[in-house]
Amino acid sequence: MRLRAFDELSPSMEVDRTLLHLAAFGGTFPRRSVDLWRTRSKMLAEYAGLFAEESGRVIGQVFVLRIPYTFRDGVETISGLAGVATRPDRGRGGIARTLLAEVHRRETEAGVRFITLWTNRSWGAHGLYEKLGYRDIYSSPWVVHSPVGTSRARSRPRGIRGARRDDLRDIERLHARQAEGRLGFCREPNGYLRTAVLAGELHPERELLVARDGGRLVGYAHIDRNPYRTVCGELVATSGASRRDLVAEVERAAQGTPFAFQHTPVTDFPRLFPRPQYATSDRAWWGWMGSALGKVWTTRAAVRQFATDDRRFLCLSGDRF
Ligand SMILES: CC(C)(COP(=O)(O)OP(=O)(O)OC[C@H]1O[C@@H](n2cnc3c(N)ncnc32)[C@H](O)[C@@H]1OP(=O)(O)O)[C@@H](O)C(=O)NCCC(=O)NCCS
Repeated sequence: MRLRAFDELSPSMEVDRTLLHLAAFGGTFPRRSVDLWRTRSKMLAEYAGLFAEESGRVIGQVFVLRIPYTFRDGVETISGLAGVATRPDRGRGGIARTLLAEVHRRETEAGVRFITLWTNRSWGAHGLYEKLGYRDIYSSPWVVHSPVGTSRARSRPRGIRGARRDDLRDIERLHARQAEGRLGFCREPNGYLRTAVLAGELHPERELLVARDGGRLVGYAHIDRNPYRTVCGELVATSGASRRDLVAEVERAAQGTPFAFQHTPVTDFPRLFPRPQYATSDRAWWGWMGSALGKVWTTRAAVRQFATDDRRFLCLSGDRF
C-alpha cells in the first residue's frame, strides 16, 4: 500500500476516489471544487488530502482542512479531517489508521498542534478516533418543531427575502462582527461564501435568508431544506426583532413540515424555542472530536482547551466539515 497526495492521483484513481466518497457519504467532493478552494482560500492543507493506493486503485482517503480557531489565548490554525473513508470491501485492514497516522505526522511537521473532526458518536469510526487520542469536545443542541394539523399561511416578515450574490459580502461581514469577542469558529470575511457558490455547494436564494432594514443587513439565516423538513443551524442577527423575524421565516419556509434549529443560536437564545411547541435535546449523535498532536489527554482537558463549554463559544452550521 502506498500513500499519495491529491495531486498524485491519476484520472482512474479519481474515479475510485469518487466511488469511495459516494459509498461512504452519499456525496462527492469533485476535483473542480477541491481546486477552487485551493486557489481561492487557505482552507485545505498543501497536499489537500491523503489517499491509500494499491495496484493502481484507491482504497482509502482523508481530506485535511486548516481552520483558524479562537482559543482563550488567541487565534491559532487547527486541522480538520473530512471524508475519512475506506473502500467497503477493504474494511478493518488498518487502512484508515495508516492514513491518519501519516496525516498526524505531516500536520505536526507543518507546526499544527491540534487536529479535529466531526463524526457520529454511535459509529465504528468513533472507536478508531478514540484509540488515536481524539476526545469528544462538543455536540450541538437541537430544538425541533413538528406542526400538528395544517398551519395557517403567513406572509413573509418585512425586509426578509432569499439572498442574492450581492448579499454575500455583507453576510460574511455581519458574521465576523457578531463573532468579535467570541471563542471557537471565528471566520474572517474573505469571500468563502462566493467560493461555496462557485463550487456549487451553496445556492443563496434557496439556502440563505437575509433581513435588511433600510438597506442595512441586520440578520441572516442558513437553511437546509427538502420537501420533508427544514434545518437552520446558522442564524445571526443584530436585534431580537430581526432574530424573531428570521425564526418566523424559517417556519414559513418549512411550509407545514417539521423544522429545527441547531448549534449556537439554540444555546444563545433558548427562550426563542419554548416548550411545548419545541422539543429539545442538549446534544446530537453528531459530535466534534479533538486531539492534541503528540499528547495523550482527557476529555476534560480537551474541552477546556477548545473552550466549548464557555458561553462565548461559537459554532454554526458553516463550521461543520
Ligand atoms: C470508519 C472507516 C473509515 C474505518 O476504516 P478502516 O480502514 O476499516 O479502519 P481500520 O481498519 O484502520 O480500523 C481501525 C479501528 O477502527 C474501528 N473500527 C473500524 N471499523 C469498525 C466497525 N465496523 N465497527 C467497530 N469499530 C470499527 C476499530 O476500533 C478498529 O480497530 P481494530 O480493528 O483494532 O478493532 C470505514 O469503516 C469507513 O469508511 N466507514 C464509512 C465512512 C465513515 O463512517 N467514515 C467516518 C466518517 S467520520
